[in-house]
Amino acid sequence: MVNFRVLIQLTFTAVAVARTLTVVNSCSYMIWPAIFNNAGSSTPNQPAGWQQDPQETISFSVPDDWAGQLWGRRDCDFSATNGTNSCLDGGCDGGLECTSTATPPATIAEFELNISQQDFYDVSLVGGFNIPLSVTNNKGCATASCPVDLNPDCPAELAGPFDASGNPVGCKSACAAGLGDPVNSPNCCTGTHSTPATCPASGVEYYSYFKGNCPTAYAFAYDTPTTTLPCTSQPDYTVTFCP
Ligand SMILES: *[C@@H]1O[C@H](CO)[C@@H](O)[C@H](O)[C@H]1NC(C)=O
Ligand SMILES: *[C@@H]1O[C@H](CO)[C@@H](O)[C@H](O)[C@H]1NC(C)=O
Repeated sequence: MVNFRVLIQLTFTAVAVARTLTVVNSCSYMIWPAIFNNAGSSTPNQPAGWQQDPQETISFSVPDDWAGQLWGRRDCDFSATNGTNSCLDGGCDGGLECTSTATPPATIAEFELNISQQDFYDVSLVGGFNIPLSVTNNKGCATASCPVDLNPDCPAELAGPFDASGNPVGCKSACAAGLGDPVNSPNCCTGTHSTPATCPASGVEYYSYFKGNCPTAYAFAYDTPTTTLPCTSQPDYTVTFCP
C-alpha cells in the first residue's frame, strides 16, 4: 500500500527545490540521451545516460542551480566496449552513463540554472551537429534550437561518422573537423585568434551552413551572445530531439 503522506511530502519538496526537465524523443529512431554535470554543479535525480525509444517522453527533476549539458547518442552498443566508441555518434567515456562530455560531433543543450538571478541556456553546435533538438520552456522564454537535420547536406570535409548505409549521422564544425592549423586557428579561436575581436564569425569556415540553418544555435566559440538565452521566470524545460 502506498504511503500517501510520504508521497505528498516528497512532491512538495521536489516542487520547492527543483525544476522539471522533460526529454522527448520525437525521432524515428532510438536515442541514448546523456547528461554531463559541470564541475561543482549539483546533480539531477537521473542517471547520466539512458536508452529512450521513439516517441517516448521522460521527465525528472534538476536542482535549481544545475549547470550541465544534455545531448543524444545514436546506434549505441555497450556489449563490446564502454567508451567513446560504444555509440556511432555522441559517445562518451563511461558507457551508458557518461563520465565525460560528448565526443564531437554532437548537438548539445547547455544549461546554467540560477533561482536567485536568471537561467542561461543554449543549443551548441561548437563541436558540430548530430541530432536536431530544441530547448523550450513553460514560462514563455525564448526557444533555443537546431531543428533542421544538418547531416544530409553536410559539406563533404565535415561529414561523418557514417551509418552502415554510408549516410552521415554527424556534421562536424570546422574546428572539430581539424580544418586548418589546430593550434592557431580562426575556426577554433586558438592562438592569435583567441579573443572575440580576433575570432570573428567571418573567419570560421562553414559558419553559414550551421548558422543559416539554425540561427538560434551557438555555432562557434564566440558566437553572438544572443544565442545564450536568459530567463528569469524559473521555468521547467523540455528538450525535444527531432522537434
Ligand atoms: C546565482 O546568482 C547569484 C547572484 O548573481 C550568484 O551569487 C550565485 O553564485 C549564482 N549561483 C550559481 C549556482 O551560479
Ligand atoms: C558495460 O557496462 C555494462 C553496465 O555496467 C556491463 O553490463 C557491460 O558488461 C559492460 N561492457 C563491457 C564490454 O565491459
